[in-house]
Amino acid sequence: QTIHQKDYKVPDYLVDTVELTFDLSPEDTRVLSRLAIRSNHDRSNGASPLVLDGEELTLVSLKLDGVEVKRDAYRVDDASLTLLAPPESFVLEVETRIKPKENSALSGLYASGPMLCTQCEAEGFRRITYFTDRPDVMAVYTVTLRADKASCPVLLANGNLVDRGDLPDGRHFAVWHDPFKKPSYLFAVVAGDLVHIADRFTTMSGRAVQLEIYVEERNKDKCEHALRSLMRAMRWDEEKFGREYDLDTYMVVAVDDFNMGAMENKGLNVFNSRYVLASPESATDDDYEAIEEVIGHEYFHNWTGNRITCRDWFQLSLKEGLTIFRDQEFSADMQSRPVKRIADVKSLRSAQFAEDAGPLAHPVRPESYVEINNFYSMTVYHKGGEVIRMLQTLLGREAFRAGMDLYFERHDGQAVRVDEFVQAMADAGKRDLSQFMLWYDQAGTPVLTVSDDYRPESGSYTLTVTQSCPSTPGQPEKKPFHIPLAMGLLDRDGNELPLQLAGEAAAAGTSRVLELRGETETFTFAGIKERPVPSLLRNFSAPVKLQYPYSDEDLNLLMTRDSDPFVRWEAGQVQAVKLIMGLTGEIQAGRQAQVPESFIESFRRLLADDSQDRAFLAETLTLPAESYLAEQMAVIDPDAIHQARELVRSTVGRRLWSELTAVRAACAPKAPYRPDDGLAGCRRLKNLCLAYLMAAGGQEAIDACMAQYRSADNMTDSLGALAQLTSCACPERDEALASFYDCWRGDRGVIDKWFTHQALSRLPDTMDRVLALLEHPDFDLRNPNRVRSLVGAFSQGNQVRFHDAGGRGYRFLADQILRLNAINPQIAARMLTPFSRWRRYDAHRQELMKKELERILAEPGLARDVYELAAKSL
Ligand code: ARG
Ligand code: ZN
Repeated sequence: QTIHQKDYKVPDYLVDTVELTFDLSPEDTRVLSRLAIRSNHDRSNGASPLVLDGEELTLVSLKLDGVEVKRDAYRVDDASLTLLAPPESFVLEVETRIKPKENSALSGLYASGPMLCTQCEAEGFRRITYFTDRPDVMAVYTVTLRADKASCPVLLANGNLVDRGDLPDGRHFAVWHDPFKKPSYLFAVVAGDLVHIADRFTTMSGRAVQLEIYVEERNKDKCEHALRSLMRAMRWDEEKFGREYDLDTYMVVAVDDFNMGAMENKGLNVFNSRYVLASPESATDDDYEAIEEVIGHEYFHNWTGNRITCRDWFQLSLKEGLTIFRDQEFSADMQSRPVKRIADVKSLRSAQFAEDAGPLAHPVRPESYVEINNFYSMTVYHKGGEVIRMLQTLLGREAFRAGMDLYFERHDGQAVRVDEFVQAMADAGKRDLSQFMLWYDQAGTPVLTVSDDYRPESGSYTLTVTQSCPSTPGQPEKKPFHIPLAMGLLDRDGNELPLQLAGEAAAAGTSRVLELRGETETFTFAGIKERPVPSLLRNFSAPVKLQYPYSDEDLNLLMTRDSDPFVRWEAGQVQAVKLIMGLTGEIQAGRQAQVPESFIESFRRLLADDSQDRAFLAETLTLPAESYLAEQMAVIDPDAIHQARELVRSTVGRRLWSELTAVRAACAPKAPYRPDDGLAGCRRLKNLCLAYLMAAGGQEAIDACMAQYRSADNMTDSLGALAQLTSCACPERDEALASFYDCWRGDRGVIDKWFTHQALSRLPDTMDRVLALLEHPDFDLRNPNRVRSLVGAFSQGNQVRFHDAGGRGYRFLADQILRLNAINPQIAARMLTPFSRWRRYDAHRQELMKKELERILAEPGLARDVYELAAKSL
């Protein structure tokens, strides 16, 4: 059934303290819970029943104030335990049994390799014991863990270790106490045969914090980067936001089986091992970056999420959007800010814009849900992050920081709504943000249509901006948003013009933020001596689509001269989109398609310019992804898009062969690899050049690829070559894949990449290869990373092969979703995304995809997660 935001009610009962005792064993774990409960409602008409959530639990005993509860005083079903008329305040003792090893959903307490661990967000705690499993019930937890000492030497829970010792029969125990009140979703336990590496961090007020990263023994030498990243994140949050860590220990545990990226449990983060483990030989530059970012993300949650949490799950973006914004800013400060911004915009546009344009579109603060896990979405996280960024843009950095301080000051220790956050910003910035709230409650990507008018006689230049937003499910009509539009004006020589709006006494800088509130707004600038070129949406100041009729000449000017790196990059992308969409049309019409000389020349100039940052140049020379190009088409034609884009790639490769070879040579390593050698941008550019050479074809490129593959002393270069070879119909392909496998078998993270690159191969035999890989001994449907590496990569990253007009890709995906449905509903639901876009394709593909969705919906015993997305997609 559907849960609605408007039905929120304060809890009838609150829990002040929770005492949990676990007798841990993978087959059968006993959980004893002792809850101090007090009534929180008007009892003049009698006591309300107390409803505790519980799933997959076996109830053993139930006592109220020490006395066994009579069978007619409570009810149990498969989702809850109800005490019919509890007293005003009391102690409830519940004993339950659970089976961690059978828990393949990876929610609650489960086994991952040799350890037991938990994942409670959003509603996993109810799979451990009966509880009011909602974020506005906050309690102080004390946890006793008991287990076999030999197989389970490490026993961890939230907070501080207060006692430990031995028990009879080779067992031992540990007692943990977390002094901070927290919702049940932040509860965590880990037990197993683990080792750790540690360091100390001294906070800005001089407190010493013990930092510990726990892993399986074989991974002990892969934790250094995560530990250093954690220390950088802690320092950064002190410096940028004045936030200090609050416990004596901070623990991170890496587990191989994990549904998401990581989890911010108070004092005891549990991580997907791919966001912890790295060694110079086995991790790519991107892996290193991702680890730093996710470590930062979970750490920043300690204030934005844990100290101040969400009142209910509709407010999820309160913590996730804000924490995404914080981790993006952290990463931007640790590396190149423009390159980071471009990467974030690319992922927002290809994944979130598509979500916003389809049947699963929902506001950053959804109005209803069937399964909350389905709303850990690009919209809640990444559009939510953009909404926070817009607040910073509108208020300015200083007032934004004051708003953050005010938010922490007002709401520390509380479970609040998005409204409280925005109110703090409004108060600190002395701004009316009521219209701004529409960003939280209206779905859909707004479109800005800009036109201009230049009057030479008066020297005035007028921009007219009209906003609109397409209908989304349940929201046919939209009100205008409050949108920050950062902009500047360039003269024909590329000089930035001073910006003076009509009515202003003087110009105020050369870059400013225009605020759009009405459906149409006009802005007139004075003192403009010639028709300028507008530089619009600087730094991507709002998550919108922008339409302005730029000429090629305008775009060239912006690309080479604009002061804003995002606009420079975007100007190139707009040109590339225009070009590839034009070629796509030619191909569809059966005409001869050709890449114009001017495009090749602009790439030639870019390659010759060695003054530019290498990573930024690589972004500039990267063509828009097929998924992003698809978004630009009324009816998506994956084959034509693929052919058009390949035509550009092969033409660039052939025509600029010597330039690409030269840049590649200039980027060749001069010293042995180190992950922090500052040359990641060089490696990116070098591998991009190699990709263009391979697109040109011929044995020389293949030889270059094999040479790089054989001589690489790091994973970035070795995979850079392998990725190209997997899309090459040559004998070297299987040779490289086999040698890579032999070299890395046993390293899960690297073998994931081996699966992924085969799934991404553009060769026509990819579907057959993927089907064969399903039977590979290393493939495991119970491991989410492995599922993502094969099923996810093929269906979400290989547009042209997945959308094969014969429908085999569709059948394959539906088959896997149905198998996963019985194992892990969250992962099954995540795999549905490509089907949700079915309406965007031609009638034939629509029919095929629809049939698969119907087949999924007809499955008996469909999990709520899968049901909701499949039903909404149809
Ligand atoms: N709060 C975690 C994070 O973003 C995500 C955990 C979500 N897990 C889930 N099963 N919904 O850092
Ligand atoms: Zn998060």
